[in-house]
Amino acid sequence: MSKTYLAKVLKQALNTFTSKNSEIFSTNFATLIALLDKVTTEHVDFPTQILDPKVWTLPDKAPVSCITIYEDSKISMGIFILKPNGKLPLHNHPDMHGLIKVLAGQVKIVSYSINTEKTKEIDLKSHQGSMDRLAMPPVSNKPGLVTAELVEITVANSNSPPCVLNPNFKNLHEIQSVNEPAAFLDILSPPYDCPEPGSETRTCSYYSKLCQVSPDVYRLQETISPSWYWTDSIPYTGPDLEAEVIF
Ligand SMILES: [Fe+2]
Repeated sequence: MSKTYLAKVLKQALNTFTSKNSEIFSTNFATLIALLDKVTTEHVDFPTQILDPKVWTLPDKAPVSCITIYEDSKISMGIFILKPNGKLPLHNHPDMHGLIKVLAGQVKIVSYSINTEKTKEIDLKSHQGSMDRLAMPPVSNKPGLVTAELVEITVANSNSPPCVLNPNFKNLHEIQSVNEPAAFLDILSPPYDCPEPGSETRTCSYYSKLCQVSPDVYRLQETISPSWYWTDSIPYTGPDLEAEVIF
């Protein structure tokens, strides 16, 4: 049996993120991006009826729907569907890689990086007390306070190449659908809720903007998940990937 296209993508993702050979990571990652770029709604048997804006006006409909396609201890692959002008709140991906391929509609992705030259400079200044200490408490003084640099605002649709984040670049983002419902395929490695060094689980944290501290740098405060954000799930009906991918 020839592999379905989605199985090829998953196989490449597993090769990329489980290989012990770090020298070939960038080559594998580039191949994964190229394969992911060609994924369409047909490959995942996407339930296109959910793109009807009327669906999202039904009482008690969650603002975001999720389809879990595959998950193990190394990788998760799933689809997020956002209501018209719906949003995934600003959140992080601790020590994770992520790839996003838009399948339908348009999304605006606002991405921040931490531990950049600019954020380190700000943190050093605030620690030394050379900035207004009320507006700029040292990050170490307050739990859940993060200094982050706004590095990209992009609008992507199904013709756009995959959007990529890694542990050191664009690791925090918020994602908003533009006008119509929108759907994107998401690959994460390692997945959330998977143990990370020095911590029991790899949790998704949410943030709100506290203040702007220089032209592209913000102080973010970790918050609970916003009350306007919750998800429901839709069954995956695409190819049986477990059967197709030979480990
Ligand atoms: Fe994300």
